[in-house]
Amino acid sequence: MHVAAHLTAAPAREASTSASASPAQHRAPYLEALAAHGQRKPGRMHVPGHGGGSGADPALLALLGDAPFRVDLPRDLSGVDAGPSPTPYDQAEELAAAAHGAGRTWFLTNGATQGNHAICLALAGDGARVLVQRNCHGSVVDGLVLSGAEPAYALPEYDARLGIAGPVTPATLRAALAEDRRIAVVVLVSPTYYGEVADVAACAQVAHEAGAVLVVDGAWGPHFGFHPALPQCPLRLGADVLLTSTHKHAGSLTQSAMLHVAPGREAIQARLERSVRMLRSTSPSSLLLASLDASRRQLALRGGRVLGDAIAVAARLRERLAALPGCAVRDAADPLRVAVDIRGTGAAAEALAEALRDGHDVHPELVTPTCLLFVVPLGLTPDGADDVADALAAAIAETASVTDRLYPVVGAPALPAVAISPRAAFLGATEVVPRTAAVGRICAEAISAYPPGIPLLLPGERIAAVDVDALLAMRAAGARLHGAADPQLSTLTVVAE
Ligand SMILES: Cc1ncc(COP(=O)(O)O)c(C=O)c1O
Repeated sequence: MHVAAHLTAAPAREASTSASASPAQHRAPYLEALAAHGQRKPGRMHVPGHGGGSGADPALLALLGDAPFRVDLPRDLSGVDAGPSPTPYDQAEELAAAAHGAGRTWFLTNGATQGNHAICLALAGDGARVLVQRNCHGSVVDGLVLSGAEPAYALPEYDARLGIAGPVTPATLRAALAEDRRIAVVVLVSPTYYGEVADVAACAQVAHEAGAVLVVDGAWGPHFGFHPALPQCPLRLGADVLLTSTHKHAGSLTQSAMLHVAPGREAIQARLERSVRMLRSTSPSSLLLASLDASRRQLALRGGRVLGDAIAVAARLRERLAALPGCAVRDAADPLRVAVDIRGTGAAAEALAEALRDGHDVHPELVTPTCLLFVVPLGLTPDGADDVADALAAAIAETASVTDRLYPVVGAPALPAVAISPRAAFLGATEVVPRTAAVGRICAEAISAYPPGIPLLLPGERIAAVDVDALLAMRAAGARLHGAADPQLSTLTVVAE
């Protein structure tokens, strides 16, 4: 089936449905300036060398048409992002800040990954203590490698039935901050991959009472705050810094994201400004930037309708999936994330997913031994949701069920001891040693098992026998090991002595 056929197109003209959107939000200044420049068909004696399409590969041109090439433009174009201030580009970032309740917003063209790197470089410098949610995205740990900070970790809530990691509670945060009073920055993930949210308001209070800055990696929640049925935007709940992966749920192009700082945090803003500048390409994609400007306008003006429609379709999908034999649908704060517990079907999740993909051309976001996770895209129609449910029903019927099948789920890992910073472990000399000889050594790689998606070992941590045993148990239980240089785990990469 073709879900794409059930995605509704956005109307060409913006019709405001959000009573609270300011008149300025009707503009998309960067998108408009770029379009005006491209439509003039100016003499392009500059990069990019495709010449606005004339020099592009014919197959690529046939696929995309020439429109994207005409507006694929370099930086520093007068009247677009150069000239009298504020330029259309400046205005676009200002409008995004206003829409999110931020003091300053930066457009990013290397995803939320770039944002996490910038956050670590700006706020968690060499030797600084930073508290990080253990099931953070790998880009946070990579950011610590870049910055040299020393992490402490907070374990998330964990649903041991399904092997799903959740958010960090305010109580866990309070205890972690009480244990190490040098912590000046806290990095939490909300929402999680499964659409669960932390109590951001309470966590902000706890962090601020301890004198720490609260960063929320809201990569999965760029649509939050733009519809009453969705959780509030974390900035409006007290977060100091927020990262949103706009491409994940808010309609911009893949790899585009936004970094926001709350109003009145001038010192943090100045530090982020430097780091973003350092990590930015000198040739950011104008297409990605324009898609961010457009996505912000859509959320601000039509978020109520576009998101409302998607939420209604998601409710229909949930209802249909919950009625399938052996399926249970999990509740989540974000209704656009639909996790289906398939244990009752008796089928193996991977076999079910394969039948869905190969037989019905339906592609879930994530497959674990217990669940299929679907992301409901904006514009999905009720018929599209029905087709997904019908496809899953057929896939269940087609997939051999093994009634005595076990759905192995491993326990949440405990925290290993941090011996040296991730940076020192990453930059230092390493050696590959047999698994048994790795016990007692300092790990030089980042190894997570999915599920639960909580890293078991990160660079700089001393490897204990229980860690190796846990990894082996997870592998035996069917978990996929991510990040291990040797997926069989016969060897581990450790810091050289
Ligand atoms: C919590 C979290 N933060 C950051 C990222 C990185 O986002 P991006 O793919 O936009 O670089 C991800 C990606 O999945 C993520 O899950």
